[in-house]
Amino acid sequence: MEHILGTLKNADTMIKRYPFLNKTGMIFGTIFHDIGEVLDYRFDSKANDYITTNHRRLIGHCGGAIEILKPYFSKYNISMDLQEYLFQIIGSHMGNEMASISEMCTPETICLNFADHMDALADSMQRAKDKYLQGKTNKITVANSCLYFYE
Ligand SMILES: [Fe+2]
Repeated sequence: MEHILGTLKNADTMIKRYPFLNKTGMIFGTIFHDIGEVLDYRFDSKANDYITTNHRRLIGHCGGAIEILKPYFSKYNISMDLQEYLFQIIGSHMGNEMASISEMCTPETICLNFADHMDALADSMQRAKDKYLQGKTNKITVANSCLYFYE
């Protein structure tokens, strides 16, 4: 939930900076872009922890989001054009990574990709800096980059 709020703040900044963006697409896409992750994990009582599902391995959260949303779009008679537009944003927000269902081809998809990654990376960097400040480690790697904190 924190990640969705962080991504929404990034998306809001982009909407203000780039007024040609479709606000509905950006906001809807941001709110629902990771909803498919509910199909990626399940609680395993033996392990007493969440484990990765076959759904995550075989389909991923982008396709999962569409599975979840499609019945609601049908129920509320959302036009096929709008469905396909919103599915492009949600289904391709991971860029060229394997989880995406197709290439990014709208400005909103590309901007959501950046807003999403920026929030996830900033969170990782904050946690890394917290570990650094606590003296737990002096070698911190985030997204394959070794971080150096300047004070
Ligand atoms: Fe995300």
